Amino acid sequence: MSNVILCKTDEVKDEAPVAVTPDGFPALAVYVFEGEYYVTDNLCTHGMAMLTDGYQDGDEVECPFHGGAFSIKTGEATSFPCQIPVKTYPVTIEDGNVCIPAASN
Ligand code: FES
Repeated sequence: MSNVILCKTDEVKDEAPVAVTPDGFPALAVYVFEGEYYVTDNLCTHGMAMLTDGYQDGDEVECPFHGGAFSIKTGEATSFPCQIPVKTYPVTIEDGNVCIPAASN
């Protein structure tokens, strides 16, 4: 299976997730936490907010609109009013790039 390159690993900083929209995918958010990279859909499941406009706190990201939050590892909604999980994607690192499978959209 081929992979889609999202960004360079060194573009992603602790608590500064990166917004990307590769062809054929919805808006995505790329995070790093304790040296591991994670990718979720960027759109909050509660409203029209981009999670990359919010705040990453450890392994959670807080939405900028109503203070809901998600686990960046599992996508689980961790704080009200978010209740629906955000989609996550399996990440691989190839040649310094953060990648996800092409067929995972
Ligand atoms: Fe994200 Fe409401 S839009 S918590």
